[in-house]
Amino acid sequence: MTIREIFRIADHWHFAISTTTIETGDPPMRIGIIGAGNIGTALVKRLAPHGHELMLSFHRDRAALSELASSLGVASGTPAEAVEFAEVVVLAVPWGVVPDALKEAGRFDGKILWDCTNALKSDMSGLEVGTTTSAGELVAQWASDARVVKGVPPFAQLLHSDDPTIGGQPPSVFVAGADAQAKAAVAQLMSELPATVTDAGPLEASRFIEPAMMLVVHMAYRQGHGPRIAMQLMR
Ligand SMILES: NC(=O)c1ccc[n+]([C@@H]2O[C@H](COP(=O)([O-])OP(=O)(O)OC[C@H]3O[C@@H](n4cnc5c(N)ncnc54)[C@H](OP(=O)(O)O)[C@@H]3O)[C@@H](O)[C@H]2O)c1
Repeated sequence: MTIREIFRIADHWHFAISTTTIETGDPPMRIGIIGAGNIGTALVKRLAPHGHELMLSFHRDRAALSELASSLGVASGTPAEAVEFAEVVVLAVPWGVVPDALKEAGRFDGKILWDCTNALKSDMSGLEVGTTTSAGELVAQWASDARVVKGVPPFAQLLHSDDPTIGGQPPSVFVAGADAQAKAAVAQLMSELPATVTDAGPLEASRFIEPAMMLVVHMAYRQGHGPRIAMQLMR
């Protein structure tokens, strides 16, 4: 079974977006999402109630993307339009199509790029890159004019579910990147998913964040624990 088959739970994406705005005191942002799949739509579901403006992009079928985005009450466009629109751009596509997606995105001109990717092999048996470099660092090389922040979100299935916590506890997630302001913006968004966010330091820490998330994927889908699991950092 491939990742896409397993994660295609979001084929019942007919979720209702809450119309209640959640007041956090943090300013709303314009968020352009490259990738309208499980994670892209899960982020729409979880971030829209916080008052953010969202645009979905990158789909092989433009008409289907437009229909999906309108059903979720958000805008749609090309990846380049998503970058133009956004203060924070989210990269949420399978590892194999990251170069195509970034090519379509074009110039970032210093914008924040929240990299959600994990370089998963298509059969989920492991990572394509890891420990001596990372997906985060490669994304930063390919999108060299973006302020890249690594932040792998919790499972899309958890975020799409009625309760995105585990027994009332938000999952722990980590951010890594060189730019403190960019990291703070991504940390704010991740905390709204909800998640407990810890700063793991420079972008090179993606080398450790990504394998840690691989362990959770392995436990969920190869060891049979299912997607209602997450990591928690205890202090
Ligand atoms: N799913 C999770 O729980 C989860 C959690 C944390 C991190 N992540 C990471 O987030 C990223 C996105 O995961 P996802 O589960 O959201 O992926 P997905 O559901 O497969 O979404 C992929 C998106 O990319 C588009 N796309 C365009 N060309 C494509 C091509 N040639 N092959 C595949 N997709 C293409 C898809 O459009 P079409 O609909 O037209 O195919 C869709 O918009 C991955 O790097 C993954 O490791 C996922």
